[in-house]
Amino acid sequence: MQERTLIIIKPDAVQRQIIGRVIDRLEMKGFRVTGAKMMHISLELAEKHYQEHKGQPYYDRLCRYISSSPSLVMVWQGENIIKLSRNLMGETLASQARPGTIRGDFSTAENYNIVHGSDSPESAESEISLFFNEDEIVDYELTIEPWLSGTYHEKIR
Ligand SMILES: Nc1ncnc2c1ncn2[C@@H]1O[C@H](COP(=O)(O)OP(=O)(O)O)[C@@H](O)[C@H]1O
Ligand SMILES: [Mg+2]
Repeated sequence: MQERTLIIIKPDAVQRQIIGRVIDRLEMKGFRVTGAKMMHISLELAEKHYQEHKGQPYYDRLCRYISSSPSLVMVWQGENIIKLSRNLMGETLASQARPGTIRGDFSTAENYNIVHGSDSPESAESEISLFFNEDEIVDYELTIEPWLSGTYHEKIR
């Protein structure tokens, strides 16, 4: 099923100049970017985005990290992208993220973990609307889409 999700390349990844490598992983999988903005996320916006974590011991540090320096905030689309993009990212903490995943390959700090991805269709929609107006998202088809979704054979006769 085609879905969209909010993906943020967090400040540590921007500073370490690995934006391209993170995007490469998502494109390799067959996902496409439909919206992007370079943003220095304010503390207020970070607190809103992570509101469900309020009360956690790491919440203040998390919001200060996300608002410490610019991020690349994006909307991505693709088959089952919410679950599959989180598989690509790996576990939240560097100590648990497996090699081969984005976090497993690029992070060592428990509190700085390179990338954010929405965890459900509901959170994807609310997170997208927090950062994007609908007219800032450009919907388009990839011509190879039937090869990505496994439906090409259904279209040839
Ligand atoms: N135990 C922790 N220590 C430090 N930071 C954490 C911890 N748990 C979560 N975080 C931070 O909060 C963000 C949101 O947490 P969560 O939604 O659980 O993870 P994910 O980003 O994998 O969906 C994480 O990406 C990470 O930056
Ligand atoms: Mg989460």
